[in-house]
Amino acid sequence: MIEVKNNFYVLSTNKTTYSFRVTKLGYLEHLYYGRRIDSSDMEAFSRKHVFVPGGCVNYNQEVKNFSLEDIKLEMSSYGKGDIREPFIEVVHADGSFTSDFLFERAEIVEGKAEYETLPGSYDENGKVQHLLVVLRDSSYNLTLELHYYIYEDCDVICRSSKLINNSEETVRLNRLMSSQLDFEDSGYIFTSFNGAWGREMQKYDVPVCAGKYVNSSYTGTSSCRANPFVMISKEDTSEEYGDCYGINLIYSGNHYEAIEVSSFGKTRVVTGINPQSFCFVLNKGDVFEAPEAVMTYSDAGFTNMSRQMHKFVREHIVRGKWKKKERPVLLNSWEAAYFDINEDKLVELAKAGRDVGIELFVMDDGWFGKRDDDTSSLGDWYVDENKLPNGLDGLCRKINDLGIDFGIWVEPEMVNVESNLYREHSDWTMEIPGKPHSEGRNQRILDFANPAVVDYMTEELTRVFSSANIAYVKWDMNRNFSDIYSQYLPPEKQGETAHRYVIGLYHIMKTLTERFPDILFEGCASGGNRFDLGILSYFPQIWASDNTDALCRVNMQEGYSYGYPMSAVSAHVSICPNHQTLRTTPLSARFNVASFGVLGYECNLCEMSEGELDEIKKQIDLYKKWRGILQYGEFYRGRTGNIHEWTCVSEDKKNAAGMLMRELFETNAQPMHYKARGLDKDGRYHFYNRETYYDVKEYVNGVAAGFQTPKGEEEEYDINGDALMYRGVKLRYEFAAVIYNHREKYSMDFASRMYFMEGRY
Ligand code: GLA
Repeated sequence: MIEVKNNFYVLSTNKTTYSFRVTKLGYLEHLYYGRRIDSSDMEAFSRKHVFVPGGCVNYNQEVKNFSLEDIKLEMSSYGKGDIREPFIEVVHADGSFTSDFLFERAEIVEGKAEYETLPGSYDENGKVQHLLVVLRDSSYNLTLELHYYIYEDCDVICRSSKLINNSEETVRLNRLMSSQLDFEDSGYIFTSFNGAWGREMQKYDVPVCAGKYVNSSYTGTSSCRANPFVMISKEDTSEEYGDCYGINLIYSGNHYEAIEVSSFGKTRVVTGINPQSFCFVLNKGDVFEAPEAVMTYSDAGFTNMSRQMHKFVREHIVRGKWKKKERPVLLNSWEAAYFDINEDKLVELAKAGRDVGIELFVMDDGWFGKRDDDTSSLGDWYVDENKLPNGLDGLCRKINDLGIDFGIWVEPEMVNVESNLYREHSDWTMEIPGKPHSEGRNQRILDFANPAVVDYMTEELTRVFSSANIAYVKWDMNRNFSDIYSQYLPPEKQGETAHRYVIGLYHIMKTLTERFPDILFEGCASGGNRFDLGILSYFPQIWASDNTDALCRVNMQEGYSYGYPMSAVSAHVSICPNHQTLRTTPLSARFNVASFGVLGYECNLCEMSEGELDEIKKQIDLYKKWRGILQYGEFYRGRTGNIHEWTCVSEDKKNAAGMLMRELFETNAQPMHYKARGLDKDGRYHFYNRETYYDVKEYVNGVAAGFQTPKGEEEEYDINGDALMYRGVKLRYEFAAVIYNHREKYSMDFASRMYFMEGRY
């Protein structure tokens, strides 16, 4: 709901309120963002200074009590007294950096405004409400639009901005943020999700009491170094209680999230495109669009905030045929064969997959040009006929004849110097002509700031995707930017290159997803190097990490769960010792963790034992039964640390799947318990565990026993929702350094169990 009362603007979702007012001078004073409150009391929040605080700049001589340094603002520019993080920075034709944007008008607009250059949120049901506030810097004749979109049912408010150059002169835009959030007080905990290749989404909490803290990416992608999703909370906020804000950006390039505490103890958070090395030249009449920022608030802790974000991403970001459709269980060829593929081998692998219930077979890297390793052929999207003598179509038909779908891997944004494309078009890459180039994975980035390159690659991929019955595409991107330079743009516009690349990328993604609406696209960038809402606006799922080790994954997937729904997180079971960590974890744990996401397998099934294949078949059968909930259910985090406790609940709360994983075994510890969350407290449930059977001999020396399910593995109760949530089930006794006892449970390091709750209605 949008309410405008005199100069007060109050935006409400079901459980939150956001408000600001226009001051007499024409500034937008931010008043409140938090738990829903009555909209009639906003006057009480406005600033009432009667003098300018000592040491601050007086905004103008007529109004003696006003300094921009000590007021909460909806947007702030540099040069008139506010010395905190600015929302916008423009260099005008006269060389000045000073801007002063004042209120001109506001209007409630019908529906969502479409972006020209970027993806944004959307609402199929037309319920989104849109407030447009227009500000003007009259000294320089620039217009700044602030857009607010209210998604009541998800408790989400999106913000974005647009600068229009109405002047006759050319200006340089050095920064335009998407959101700014000013708080009255300080001491907030800023949470970011940082990492590296194979180590994505590690959670870090930083209390910010003074100074500035920045989470940003400068790799050209949203990056695994610093995901654009961040949280702001209070020291005592927990999964179930307390204030928590979640903010994300619908953008896949360099991003910036800064939190700063002023000398008056107020906190400012800005988010948007990273201003580092960014500079957009705006000529007369030009418009610049900043990406949309997504904000949500919960007074009921982190899990609730996450669930609001999940719902928003599922409903208002992900689109197309696969938005709500159950995703297939796939088998990917990468870890099974790497580059060493051929038709016979792939068909054998697919057959083994079909036999255990795989629905989609994916041929990863190595099928085109002369791609026997990563030194050549990117850019040459022609089948290697030595490997696939019958072409893509021939292989695809053989896979389809097995009764399963076929998908391929591509990396369209890249080119190897060792390729026909590079030999023909060395001017199509991002590199500085005549200067030495720094390579990443032996490849260069195609210049998507150049529309001709985007058009060429769009047509190339259209040809490839139409050449066979392709049901799925894994779209990879495997290097960071260096030597950033568009050979297409003139020298004075090189500060636009990184952003124009992202615009070009979105253009190709949009065209191809519209041309091939049935294909299931999966994003990937050396794993999770580009896991963001921009990609999810086109591709419904993203490969979360190249690291498939169950222990690493449980932590990474927990990290993703703060900001992204499980339907977005692609997760595979692989063999052990794990190829990234050399660790051995139980096959059941690998499955349990991967099943809380979009499940796939990435291993050579042809080399696995009967016992393992049998176990995998059971896993896939079970996943197919529960995937509606595991992919689209309400996700709840429980304990974390040595023990990870997850629950995924159907929307109607009638059915739920739970998981416990213990990182390291503790000798002589007390039996574990499992505590569910999110159930119907008055509902009655049939609680039971996933059958776990194993070779006891592997665990206990001197015992001769084959695969079996010891009694200690059976857990079954008819139990109320409140008991499951508020007390939790005390699980059976565990092995604790005594002789073999079949009434015990045997769980080694990294062991995990799954539990199910079926409502008795
Ligand atoms: C990247 C991806 C992997 C795999 C390889 C192929 O590393 O993240 O999953 O596709 O490329 O080269």
